[in-house]
Amino acid sequence: MSGQRAGLRRFGRTAAAVAAVGAAGLAYASVVERNWFRLRRYELPVLSPGAAPMRVLHLSDAHLTPGRRMLIDWVRGLERYEPDLVVNTGDSLAHPDAVEPFLEALGPLLDRPGAFVFGSNDMFSPRFKNPARYLWRSSSADYRDRREPDLPWRELGAAMEKAGWLDLDNRTGALSAGGQRVAAAGVHDSHIGLDRYDEVAGPAPSDAALRLGVLHSPEPANLDRFEADGYDLLLAGHTHGGQVCLPLYGTLVTNCGIDRRRAWGLSRYGRAHLHVSGGLGTSPYAPVRFCCRPEAALLELVPADA
Ligand SMILES: [Fe+2]
Repeated sequence: MSGQRAGLRRFGRTAAAVAAVGAAGLAYASVVERNWFRLRRYELPVLSPGAAPMRVLHLSDAHLTPGRRMLIDWVRGLERYEPDLVVNTGDSLAHPDAVEPFLEALGPLLDRPGAFVFGSNDMFSPRFKNPARYLWRSSSADYRDRREPDLPWRELGAAMEKAGWLDLDNRTGALSAGGQRVAAAGVHDSHIGLDRYDEVAGPAPSDAALRLGVLHSPEPANLDRFEADGYDLLLAGHTHGGQVCLPLYGTLVTNCGIDRRRAWGLSRYGRAHLHVSGGLGTSPYAPVRFCCRPEAALLELVPADA
């Protein structure tokens, strides 16, 4: 009998220790790492020969709710890096009242040349769901019963366009960054079937310093076409880098067709360079990040012959 009691006590102590470690991990992931922003910096030989260096700030996946003061202030502070071009690859909103706070976060960055595409989360408000389901299926299925967007994505787009930023949702366009011509093309979010590459298809202009492809979800079907059309630099978001990663293993799932190794950061995609942002935020219903700090990226572009 006394042996049985000792066994129960041991089990109780083990369960309590496991619960304490779990609670500490959750507190770290939701309070510390979720607000532990970092700016990743890269140099990329991607510009046309003879072009002057160009600094591109890549923002993505803020999933902003009005109370996220630390995120708003951190993004606003990125102005000090004086980017020549700002690119926002979508999922900026997570609340009906998030447009003004997001514009506040962009702040002086809006006075710089910019371009954007939308993600599904700019259009549809977040809903509670079991976060662990990402391990076995894509979240695109969650949108099948969502017909009418209920977030103010049009207002957000209008404000960014009013500032002079280029809407690249199934569109092409040109802009001047650092005094140099950038030929850009983008697609809307493939995660909810709104991408229409045919509308931007065709050889990228050869007379630009940079040919830039922009998309929310790094879906290989679209990346293949951007690369085949001659775009030099492809910018995407959506994956959150996995959001919850395992030490020594990394990203568990990408929530789209891209492979785990390219879930965030720089990689080659055929002749093109691909940068997938790990993103700034999280869904309000999965407010944790683990081994996957929230981020923005500063890409220092230099000529390919440098
Ligand atoms: Fe996202």
